[in-house]
Amino acid sequence: MRAKRVASGKSGWFLLSGLLHLYKPLFLSPHMSHYYSEEPNVPLKTKTIEVCIRGQCFKFITASGVFSFGKLDRGTELLIESMILDGNWRVLDLGCGYGAIGIVASRFVGQVVMTDINRRAISIAKKNLKINGVKNAEVRWGSLYEPVRGEKFHSIITNPPVHAGKEVLREIVINAPLHLHDEGLLQLVIKTKQGAKYIKGLMEENFAEVRELVKGSGYRVYAGIA
Ligand SMILES: C[S@@+](CC[C@H](N)C(=O)[O-])C[C@H]1O[C@@H](n2cnc3c(N)ncnc32)[C@H](O)[C@@H]1O
Repeated sequence: MRAKRVASGKSGWFLLSGLLHLYKPLFLSPHMSHYYSEEPNVPLKTKTIEVCIRGQCFKFITASGVFSFGKLDRGTELLIESMILDGNWRVLDLGCGYGAIGIVASRFVGQVVMTDINRRAISIAKKNLKINGVKNAEVRWGSLYEPVRGEKFHSIITNPPVHAGKEVLREIVINAPLHLHDEGLLQLVIKTKQGAKYIKGLMEENFAEVRELVKGSGYRVYAGIA
């Protein structure tokens, strides 16, 4: 009864995700892995998809053990459709997965850096750069802002790893301004029921202005102006 009440409360999702994160070692066997594992241990399967978006078509290799196997995630799609880009910009795709956001952005901006903690995602994203003929983007392995220490961007764009826990989301938002030029943008998508209110509040505390770019299909896309 109590568990049901907690789960249905406003902060229920974060409470549950926090508890799971805390007691992860008790619940997960060493053989389990997630899309945000550093080394996914599920057998590698791949599936190539074709995506046409923002007037351009792309081929993406997707893989088991990497976020959104076999499809373009709906949240990612909304973010890609609505993200603000400029031809002179240098952009960071943080948590790139197989690379959809960074690769689409690379057609519209000057330079893209794509990062992820999942080594399989890194290897697949590098292949996707090649098969899409992308020359102005690079892929780097590492956690959060470690791979771009000391670097600045005009925009950081992310579909953040909500299941990795609240602390990871917080780190992404509060440290973004350190990696943005003046008036640079943090653009992110979040499920309305999985922390949108929390993320928007954090963005309002850390950015001069926050705008909702899109609301739909259970997602919100926010842009924070540094
Ligand atoms: C929701 S997925 C989005 C993937 C991809 N951008 C997309 O939209 O298809 C979040 C990504 O963040 C990565 N990730 C999780 N924790 C991370 C961390 N600490 N540092 C960098 N990337 C991380 C995951 O491996 C995953 O690829």
